[in-house]
Amino acid sequence: VARRVAQVGQQIRADYGDRTPVLVANLKGAFIFLADLCRAMGGPLSIDFMATASYAGSTKSSGAVRIVKDLKMDIEGRDILIVEDIVDTGYTIRYLMEYLELRKPDSVKICTLLNKKEARKIEVPVDYECFTIPDRFVVGYGLDFDEKYRELPYIGEIVS
Ligand code: IMP
Repeated sequence: VARRVAQVGQQIRADYGDRTPVLVANLKGAFIFLADLCRAMGGPLSIDFMATASYAGSTKSSGAVRIVKDLKMDIEGRDILIVEDIVDTGYTIRYLMEYLELRKPDSVKICTLLNKKEARKIEVPVDYECFTIPDRFVVGYGLDFDEKYRELPYIGEIVS
């Protein structure tokens, strides 16, 4: 994970050059990934947070996304990089992209730690990903099941 996050961080910095993207992390799952990614990228950059919820103690997406915490920054004219823990059905990312576009940023790109391509219900443009994974429920490195296991220093599968 560390090696791959470092590679992707350097790739993102190479693409943005000396521009100052705003990394918008979707809490809570992305918090550890964001911490490693921003240090791999190096400055200049800004960071803001949003929080969405679509799962409540379940491993299946309900499709309904709601905003639990909104942006603090004015992002008009900025380059936005959404930082996600995992793109699963795609509902959350699609919702976030449309929501951020309303605030008239210059660009919106998506970076995800994990990409569950097989589970996609709607198409979304993933610009950067660390790993493609099969359609299994995973935890650790920030990801939870019912608020547990975020602290695991690795990514593991929940086997029922
Ligand atoms: P989507 O809207 O179905 O794409 O789901 C995205 C969100 O669901 C992610 O930001 C995660 O919070 C959560 N999620 C999806 N799959 C997993 C998983 O395997 N483990 C933990 N959380 C997951």
